[in-house]
Amino acid sequence: MAQRIQGTEDLYGGYMRGWQHIQDTARELFGTYGFDMIETPAIEQVDTFVHGIGESTDVVRKEMFRVFSGALMERLIGAGGEGGLKAKQRMALRPEGTAGVVRAAVEDKLVSQGAAPVKLWYAEAMFRGERPQKGRLRQFHQVGIEWMGAPDPAADAECVIVLMEYFRLLGFDPARLRLRINSMGDATCRPAYREKVRDFIIAHAHELCADCRERADVNPLRAFDCKVDHDREIMAHAPLVTDHLCDTCAAHYAQVKCYLDEAGVAYVEDPTLVRGLDYYTRTVFEVDALDSGVGAIGGGGRYDDLVELEGGRPTPGIGFAVGFERISLALAACGGSLETKPPACVYVACAAPEQRDAVFSTSLALRRAGVRTEADYQGRSLKSQFKQADRLGARLCVVLGADEVASGTATLRDMQTHEQVRLPLAELVATVSQRIS
Ligand code: HAM
Repeated sequence: MAQRIQGTEDLYGGYMRGWQHIQDTARELFGTYGFDMIETPAIEQVDTFVHGIGESTDVVRKEMFRVFSGALMERLIGAGGEGGLKAKQRMALRPEGTAGVVRAAVEDKLVSQGAAPVKLWYAEAMFRGERPQKGRLRQFHQVGIEWMGAPDPAADAECVIVLMEYFRLLGFDPARLRLRINSMGDATCRPAYREKVRDFIIAHAHELCADCRERADVNPLRAFDCKVDHDREIMAHAPLVTDHLCDTCAAHYAQVKCYLDEAGVAYVEDPTLVRGLDYYTRTVFEVDALDSGVGAIGGGGRYDDLVELEGGRPTPGIGFAVGFERISLALAACGGSLETKPPACVYVACAAPEQRDAVFSTSLALRRAGVRTEADYQGRSLKSQFKQADRLGARLCVVLGADEVASGTATLRDMQTHEQVRLPLAELVATVSQRIS
């Protein structure tokens, strides 16, 4: 039997409705903040991710799925490697949404210098070759926003505010969420800070794991995210970015906090929050659902250099993304759910094969009036049709027997009370529509 790839999920039924609910909520909320929806391709040139996310990040080095057509693969095997490939032949599945959206904004000239900012949101599958575990999938779904052209700290604060409002609308108790914020500095102050962390790692190399020792040269700030407890204890004594911000970054960060305070958004300052993607500058943030055991349910930050890295003119940007699967798990851990029941439906039962045509035309009339309608297509007995109607959660059942068809009527059965009424067929659609709404 063919099997799903480990770390992937099938979305259907209540779970699928949960994914649709999270998108509907996003459409409504983000719409009020002026965001329009965008969908970019799931495959992009490898360079789109390398330039933006960073060559030395785990996401690019270890987790990004590379894409080869069968024909290309055959050629590569023959030629002994992908060295000779052109940039446009080197493709990958998107591990996150920001780089692709920024690529689209640059390529399609969505944000030109001096013009109004571009505000986009997306709901898409992402792919990362991680070791699958609870809340960590190889194909998962993100809802995110990207806002380009707004350098003001108010944009950072509004981004965080809309994120926390989104979680509230999805059913989270704000008291059980922990929002951590930090500033990662910019091209003026971060290089010197990065060197300080590198020196710290080298000085403590004998106490740190091999991964962290390797990070010293490649990406020293990632050592703050090491999963080894002992390393975390050591990194707790490393220089903190907030002590090394330049005046402009420090002022920006202070203003973001002022706006969050004014908006009454609770946050914890975490100077060790570094995030796993290299494009961040200044404000970064991450949200955990306390006691859910699924890791961060959302995160984001400012990326003032990314548009340029993707080939555009210098344009500041900021955004966030949340993970659908983790939100589902985190809500379930506190007794909540994203899942909704299917919309109310009506079942049209067929008493005998002679009434088949009447069932067909009645179902058609109900559906054309916008009523979710089910019917029997297997020639089952009336009793098993009622059982099927129950299983489908039908609120009403229309019974068409010989008597009904002969007299131009239908019997309408309430599936909860089992009460039945006979009514003229001409009134059926209006009556059902009214009772079902
Ligand atoms: P990220 O923190 O890598 O940020 O991912 C955002 C969210 O996606 C995480 O908080 C988590 O809920 C979910 N997520 C990430 N990886 C997995 C996984 N393997 N399985 C299940 N869920 C996962 C970004 O992706 C940035 N693009 C966010 C951003 C937008 N920054 C600025 N704009």
